[in-house]
Amino acid sequence: MTGRAWHASAVTVLALMTSAACRSGPRPQPGDPMLDAIRAEEREGKLTYVESQGRRLFVHYCATCHGDDARGDGQNASNLNPPPPDMTVSRMSQDPALTRRVIAEGSAAVGRSPLSPPWGRSLSQQQIDYLVAYCQSLGRETP
Ligand code: HEC
Repeated sequence: MTGRAWHASAVTVLALMTSAACRSGPRPQPGDPMLDAIRAEEREGKLTYVESQGRRLFVHYCATCHGDDARGDGQNASNLNPPPPDMTVSRMSQDPALTRRVIAEGSAAVGRSPLSPPWGRSLSQQQIDYLVAYCQSLGRETP
């Protein structure tokens, strides 16, 4: 094989490997120690990498109602009835399936007011995974 042909096929193999990894690679799980070590500089405080990603999304999309720290004190909270709960004490964040449903389908989907909007069509599954992980971290006791 000539040098050039070898190079071309090596590039093809690499490209195939990379695209396969993107399609079928496992999603990062909350608290994956390897991921946390590699992306250490992207973590905030005691949060894992995945929870930190969720926090960033939360501050961007949700904080206007929920507040930056999810305490129910966002700029728009006083206009809402019922107001957003303090998610650091609410028991709901302990139930990831229910939390995911509220985020993806809106609070009305679990028999509550329609005030928390559905995000299932505007955020990706991965973004919703991150948000669920962040919501769950809120109820965690930090020493
Ligand atoms: C327009 C204001 C508003 C926005 C934006 C909003 N929410 Fe809400 N959210 C609420 C309100 C109000 C409630 C309480 C609804 C009720 O009890 O009927 C709520 C409830 C929730 C709950 C249930 C919490 C609990 O402990 O009971 C979750 C989870 C939640 N929202 C997640 C989110 C996430 C994640 C986002 C951003 C992607 C978001 N919300 C954006 C207003 C909002």
